[in-house]
Amino acid sequence: MKTVIISNRLPVKIIEKNNEYTFIPSEGGLATGLGDVYKTGNSIWIGWPGIEIPEERQEEVIQKLGELNLYPVFLTQEEINLYYEGFSNEILWPVFHYLVTYAHYEQTYWDCYKSVNEKFAKSAMQVLSRSDKIWIQDYQLLLLPGILREKLPNSTIGFFQHIPFPSYEIFRLIPWREELLSGLIGADLIGFHTYDDVRHFISTATRLLLVNSSSNVLNSNERQIVIEAFPMGIDYDKFSSFTTTETVQREISNFKTGKEGVKIILSIDRLDYSKGILERLRALELLLQIHPEYIGKIELFMIVVPSRDTVPQYSELREQIDQLVGNINARYRSMDWIPVNYFYRSFPIEVLSALYSSADICLVTPMRDGMNLVSKEYVASRNNNDGVLILSEMAGASKELMDALIVNPNNLGDIMEAIVIALKMPLEEQQHRMKAMRATVEKFNVNHWVNNFILKLNEVKESQKSLLT
Ligand code: UDP
Ligand code: G6P
Repeated sequence: MKTVIISNRLPVKIIEKNNEYTFIPSEGGLATGLGDVYKTGNSIWIGWPGIEIPEERQEEVIQKLGELNLYPVFLTQEEINLYYEGFSNEILWPVFHYLVTYAHYEQTYWDCYKSVNEKFAKSAMQVLSRSDKIWIQDYQLLLLPGILREKLPNSTIGFFQHIPFPSYEIFRLIPWREELLSGLIGADLIGFHTYDDVRHFISTATRLLLVNSSSNVLNSNERQIVIEAFPMGIDYDKFSSFTTTETVQREISNFKTGKEGVKIILSIDRLDYSKGILERLRALELLLQIHPEYIGKIELFMIVVPSRDTVPQYSELREQIDQLVGNINARYRSMDWIPVNYFYRSFPIEVLSALYSSADICLVTPMRDGMNLVSKEYVASRNNNDGVLILSEMAGASKELMDALIVNPNNLGDIMEAIVIALKMPLEEQQHRMKAMRATVEKFNVNHWVNNFILKLNEVKESQKSLLT
């Protein structure tokens, strides 16, 4: 009996250079969080390898991924445009993050979303055995639980959504709302990061599908479906021990050279309007305006990882960031100092780890975020218990990391003040807060998350069986 993980994106993606395929780790919380765990158990992972692969090279990719227990679903360029960029990232992503004006409700997107979910089901059927546990991940595959349930009525299906679930008033804007929910409740257990998401989902499902619910259980005609919060964790030990390795120590000393007397503020995100990148830059600008005493004394290191840049709102955001960074630097820089060090690329974990352990402040201010693993990775990397985390109250992580400086990301003054408080915070207070957060991140790590989910899935299935007998 194995666990079959199914997500849109595999934990590795293919890049093509001189007609050669290379595999590199995927970015984003789902891939980085589950990417190591799946290797340790008896699991395989089904998903898209990130680019269109021509038919004549698909066998080669199947072979290479097979060695890693990964099983590819190949998408055509049209499917990438309509299902991935279109329905997933121009409808579901903005609506689920409360940015409803960004949504384009195109019928062709929906048609393709349905057919690609069917395609994933077909791929899954080729590798599934009767007793396997199926664990579907995220909003790109909301219809998949229902499709697989029809094909395998007695199977055990778990679903976890890594992004927020919006309130009923927002969700009901989607033209295909009932179909999406009906697909999702093909699962036996549906997990979200926070209790708020659970509440929103139950109230939406009961109102739109007219099913009954008692506490966190939905009673559909055939089965009881449990909805529960499972806040995702990270590999704490990996991040904590990484900082002491020789490579990372070397990176740290390179990074720190020449920055004596300067406080480092770090921000790391995928390019995404949900991450509040522009607002963060404006808060920094406000700080330099209102507190000129910090000019020359602080530097922001801002890493933006390229993401979905073929979707118009993402490419527009990129231009806006370029412009704002340019304006701030042009206005405030001096011959030997620059306020914003902006990188539009991804970095290997060694560099990320060096940045996490060198930064005095980590500034995480999403407008909305399912969880946000970057905040947890910063905490896990602070082996000396120093450093200050500034965290948006709109990130799922804020429910657990209560010793961070919690801010409203829409309130630029609030963010600015939090930066000032962080810059002035005595070491003792930093340590007090960081210790508490580290204990939480260590205890509720990613293994804890996986085990809890799978245990609950088994329990739900057992109780369904006992109701039938
Ligand atoms: N990340 C990465 N490469 C980078 C920068 C970040 O792999 O150059 C990872 C980071 O370590 C984290 C993930 O991307 O694990 C981002 O996850 P998060 O939950 O913060 O946000 P998401 O991108 O899933 O919305
Ligand atoms: C978020 C989503 C994931 C997604 C990741 C990267 O973490 O929850 O499902 O894989 O972003 O986005 P991408 O569109 O590149 O897969």
